[in-house]
Amino acid sequence: MNKKDIKISIIGLGYVGLPLARLLATKYSVVGFDINEKRINELQNGFDATLEVSEKLLKEVILPSSNGEIGLFNSSNIEDLEKCNFHIITVPTPVDNHNRPVLTPLIKASESISRVLKKGDIVVYESTVYPGVTEDECVPVLEKGSGLKFNEDFFVGYSPERINPGDKEHTVEKILKVTSGSTIEAAKVIDNLYKSVITAGTYSASSIKVAEASKVIENSQRDINIAFVNELSKIFNLMEIDTHEVLKAAGTKWNFLPFQPGLVGGHCIGVDPYYLAQKAEELGYHPEIILAGRRMNDGMGDYVAKEFVKLMIKKGLNIKDAEVLVLGITFKENCPDVRNTKVIDVIKSLKDYGMNINIYDPWVSPAVVMSEYGLVVSTEIPNKQFDGIVHAVAHNEFKNTDFTKLKKANCILFDVKGTLEVKVEGKL
Ligand SMILES: NC(=O)c1ccc[n+]([C@@H]2O[C@H](COP(=O)([O-])OP(=O)(O)OC[C@H]3O[C@@H](n4cnc5c(N)ncnc54)[C@H](O)[C@@H]3O)[C@@H](O)[C@H]2O)c1
Repeated sequence: MNKKDIKISIIGLGYVGLPLARLLATKYSVVGFDINEKRINELQNGFDATLEVSEKLLKEVILPSSNGEIGLFNSSNIEDLEKCNFHIITVPTPVDNHNRPVLTPLIKASESISRVLKKGDIVVYESTVYPGVTEDECVPVLEKGSGLKFNEDFFVGYSPERINPGDKEHTVEKILKVTSGSTIEAAKVIDNLYKSVITAGTYSASSIKVAEASKVIENSQRDINIAFVNELSKIFNLMEIDTHEVLKAAGTKWNFLPFQPGLVGGHCIGVDPYYLAQKAEELGYHPEIILAGRRMNDGMGDYVAKEFVKLMIKKGLNIKDAEVLVLGITFKENCPDVRNTKVIDVIKSLKDYGMNINIYDPWVSPAVVMSEYGLVVSTEIPNKQFDGIVHAVAHNEFKNTDFTKLKKANCILFDVKGTLEVKVEGKL
């Protein structure tokens, strides 16, 4: 496959797919495909609701139609992908209510691609999966739908994404990318394609399964490390020692890892370990450390609520009907993503105590929060005073908040992330 002949399709234009499509479109002809027509219309008009790609950068590459020119044309019509020969799949890989992997979007995206797959095409998966999904689950779908033979007529690869939503410094081109392919030749073509746009370079893994496993352990490792500091925070709270001060002191050793306690949400760190755990269980191994980490982190929302309530009781505040302000509802700071946010667990627990919850988050779309969680969010700072405030997400906007205007004379300010510079009554 010569570079000039490569025509790319990207399936799934979310937090991962769009930045990649925009980057590739600076050098290649790219067709972006998504089943969400509203998203396609917005992107064609230069608007990215995830706020990952600016209007300026997006408009620089957007094309009004797909005629093989360098640039990006977005569509929800699969026929627009017919001329593409290098397909990249970036659809979600969530878990169900029992934390079991849901491969439906991957299977459906593979079915869609199988309809336009031709001899010589390459399909690369970027979605986070457990080892084996690309070759054992997706390839049969591609073969069945296309009637083509794997590794004779078409080839596949896996290249995990490492972007960090809201992070304007570590953008896709600046993060070294792991690549892999189903044959030595395919691996080379795939690696060369990514190398041509990723300035940080690439790492060609020895197999697709190695590349899949490398991604899922990156997030599992973070999850376990955060679970450890969350456990420390529980222990030091009982000892009335400031966990952040302990971590600062311990962090002066060269090999002490700088993790902070907190809520672990989103659909990467809080989800990916379950993919690995599920596969391990299927093979008869019960992962102890991975699942212990998950249990610890999944329980932190309830723990924050209990600690907050304890502090309020100690200060003589009434719990029932207390007016509480929750600052931030996204799963992490400085981004509008509310998927799998654990602030919801804090809110649910506080509501169970009979408190009135007010939520302020300048980053979110109130309509999205209403449809996902049935909660009202204000994007404006409230003009009111509260019995308690939970600083749940460390958005930059909250750094300079004048808490004197928000606090009643007797009030608990709880700083989940421990980043506020004002005096607080409690933190993790
Ligand atoms: N968000 C991150 O920070 C991040 C980082 C690294 C890896 N990942 C992984 O990348 C994958 C994608 O994550 P994301 O955050 O971009 O998800 P997302 O929800 O932001 O975007 C996925 C997009 O895929 C579309 N889609 C769903 N099913 C489709 C189908 N069958 N055909 C076409 N489009 C379809 C959706 O409409 C959506 O626009 C996941 O596996 C995730 O674990 C995410």
